[in-house]
Amino acid sequence: MGAKIPATMRALVQGSFDGPRDMRLRDDVPVPSPGAGEVLMRVRAAGVNFGDISRAYGTFAGGPRPPFVAGFEGAGEIVALGSGVGAELLGARVTGVGDGAFAEYMVVPGAAAMPVPSGWTEQQVLGAAVNWPAALAALRPLGGVTAGQTVLIHAAAGGTGQAAVRMAKHYGATVIGTASPEKHETVRALGADHVLDSRGGDLAAQVLRLTGGAGADVVLESAGGPSFDAGMAAAKRVTGRVIVLGLAGGEASISNWELVYKNQIQLIGLNLGVLIRTAPGIFGEVMGELSALVTAGVLPPGRPTHYDLDAGPKALGELESRATVGKLALVP
Ligand SMILES: NC(=O)c1ccc[n+]([C@@H]2O[C@H](COP(=O)([O-])OP(=O)(O)OC[C@H]3O[C@@H](n4cnc5c(N)ncnc54)[C@H](OP(=O)(O)O)[C@@H]3O)[C@@H](O)[C@H]2O)c1
Repeated sequence: MGAKIPATMRALVQGSFDGPRDMRLRDDVPVPSPGAGEVLMRVRAAGVNFGDISRAYGTFAGGPRPPFVAGFEGAGEIVALGSGVGAELLGARVTGVGDGAFAEYMVVPGAAAMPVPSGWTEQQVLGAAVNWPAALAALRPLGGVTAGQTVLIHAAAGGTGQAAVRMAKHYGATVIGTASPEKHETVRALGADHVLDSRGGDLAAQVLRLTGGAGADVVLESAGGPSFDAGMAAAKRVTGRVIVLGLAGGEASISNWELVYKNQIQLIGLNLGVLIRTAPGIFGEVMGELSALVTAGVLPPGRPTHYDLDAGPKALGELESRATVGKLALVP
């Protein structure tokens, strides 16, 4: 605190919609100014999300247009305040979401800045503003998971999936995770009851076998592509809820004919940004519950794999090629 804020900074700039390969480090990017209700954060760690890949290809609806400073999840110290923000926030260590996290400084809305839990580092809190609320919203307000139910979690070794496995087990569910084979041990160590290969095999048939033919009560569908249909077929008829929260493997569709005659399931879409804006009451409950889960130790401090800022394109490339386990952090 107290250090002078420079006029320019190092930042990773996305130059086109050609993906992470066209993300470049620059050292002359203007430091942004916080507007009304916003704060300026000195970023100590930035979270890498699958959404960063979508933004780099221009497939993230409502995302920024090139050139833009990449990244949207940061953790660090508040060093300047916009108008209307309480002075007590100055110097606070927080994590939050805003544009341009892959940089030395970023602006986030003051109201959405979450305190870093006491004793945690900025890297350890990454995930708390994006992956954890997405996983919890999918499981509870949307998925309605209760003890004794079965939950199918795709990408269970990933940033969002790991949190989902921990929380689903905490709520007493039986967890079936999917992951690439080399990540299975990680998923088992989190407490998952069963782990299936996300790269091959008949997923729906395996889930039906594990559930005595009934299917999963809740499916966290983030795989998309060819796995999308398997998620529908793996859900319990009539009462099974499929929460669609991502499309890592590409777009997929389901028709009205299929919902009536083939997969009689409850299909629910989740977009955290829309949830925050249009259902603040539900989001508030999710964040309150998350803080209780942190206090209870259900969600321990994270241990992200960290990269220097200039290795951001490499980190995103590894995430895109399914080579990563858990959360990734960039250190500016
Ligand atoms: N809707 C929302 O608001 C929201 C918020 C946060 C995250 N999400 C979604 O949650 C999912 C996970 O996000 P994350 O940031 O935590 O990433 P992540 O799970 O750490 O990484 C993505 C994982 O997805 C799996 N995957 C399956 N098919 C894939 C494919 N064709 N290409 C690449 N990966 C594939 C891979 O795991 P395996 O190789 O082990 O199968 C990969 O490691 C993403 O779909 C993301 O968009 C949505």
